[in-house]
This record gives sequence, structure tokens and C-alpha cells, in this order.
Amino acid sequence: MVARPSGRKANEMRSMKAKVGIIPNADGSAMFAFGDTIAIAAVYGPRQLHPQHMQDPSTGILRVNYDLLSFSVSERKKPGPSRRSKEISQVTEWALSPVLDLRAFPNTVIDVQIYILQADAGTRTAGINAASMALAHAGIPMKNLICSVAVGKLDKDLALDADNAEEHYDEGEGHTDIPLAKIAGTDEFTLMQLDGKIPPEMIKDVLEMVNKGCEEIYEVQKKALKEIVE
Ligand code: CDP
Repeated sequence: MVARPSGRKANEMRSMKAKVGIIPNADGSAMFAFGDTIAIAAVYGPRQLHPQHMQDPSTGILRVNYDLLSFSVSERKKPGPSRRSKEISQVTEWALSPVLDLRAFPNTVIDVQIYILQADAGTRTAGINAASMALAHAGIPMKNLICSVAVGKLDKDLALDADNAEEHYDEGEGHTDIPLAKIAGTDEFTLMQLDGKIPPEMIKDVLEMVNKGCEEIYEVQKKALKEIVE
């Protein structure tokens, strides 16, 4: 068993923080942090989609925009969209959509803006957790919250919620990153990506680890949502 650079146990998450209602002018908003990774999400809508020819009279649509702020990373990131931010925006849309029923909002768009204030790995998963809370805060009908976390493989061993130092693990087989998202309280996964290699027989352990992580995330998300109604 490899010792994690962070000193955490294999299935130990970083400390989490969450807060709802952080952007008063948005229809819904939330912050979610895994350790030093801080994501904020703001929801605007449902509002009429322009240009009009893109409207769908049978349903509303979800439009996600994810971005890393320039100084969220150690080497300043050039502002504006990149291939990476477009990919993460797209997979976030796919991860969130299965819990939303947008048929009640024909011809509209729900815009979700996700910004990473500080990045230390796991920004897409932190962004999905924040966006899920922000959608709930905006009162969008949802089957349940989406919980998201990545499992890493350091050499031959799994490690939940790797930080950036762990993502750069370069001994033995190095690092594999597997970000996942699931519908809270179910076995339905809405995101699974794989950056690296993993033997298929380890996937069951990956899912078990994610289930444990997601149970903890769900509690943090629910607590933050309850705080605004108390
Ligand atoms: O952030 P996430 O793990 O979802 O996605 P990634 O593309 O695997 O990026 C891993 C980490 O690399 C980020 O969280 C940042 O800490 C770092 N990164 C960076 O330093 N500069 C970039 N332009 C992009 C990512």
C-alpha cells in the first residue's frame, strides 16, 4: 500500500466546506470546497432563450460554463475558454441533466456559471457539487442532488479525492484520475471519466470508494441547504 503524499487514508476525503446563497443577484448560488479547491456556482433562469430559433417548445435547456480564474492555479491561466474548460462544461451539463425535469420551462435556458477560485485538483467535481446545490437553491425541480468526487490510483492503490500533489504521483504506474458523479442516494452514475489506466477488476472498488465519498458530500450539501431555510 503506497503512503499518500497528503498523509490521508485511502478512502479519506479532504475537509469539505459548503455554503448556499453566496451571490444575492443570482437565482441560486453555492460554494463548495474540497481542501484547497474552491468552486462557486451561480444559476440564472429559467429565462427566455435567445436567439429564438434555438428555443425548444417542449423543454428548457441547461447551459453550463466552467472556468478557472487566472490566479486560481500556480501558473497564471490565460483568461477565456479553452479546450479543457469546454470539455468540463460539457461533462458537467451531462452530469447534472439526469436529475432535472425542464419540460415545465419550455423555450427557456438555465445558465449555470461555475468559477474555480482556487485549484488543487478536483475542480470539475467541486464545481458539480456547487452547481447541484445552486440549482436546488434556485428552486429548479430536481429528483435529487448530484454528488461528485474523483478516485485516483497512485501506482497500484486507490486514493479518494486526490489533491494536486497526489495527481502528480510519478512512482510505479503513476497516477490515474477517475472523476465520477452520481445521483445522491441511488446507484445511478451520471459521470465517469478515466484519465490513465486501471485494471477492470478494480472498478468495483472504485465505485465503493465513490459511494462512501458521495455519502459524506451529500450530508455536507444538505446541511448547507438547510442552513438557508432555518
Ligand atoms: O481539476 P480537475 O481535477 O477536475 O481537472 P484536471 O484537468 O485533471 O486538473 C487537475 C488540476 O491541475 C487542477 O485542479 C489544477 O490544480 C491543475 N491545473 C493547473 O494548474 N492549471 C491548469 N491550467 C489546469 C489545471
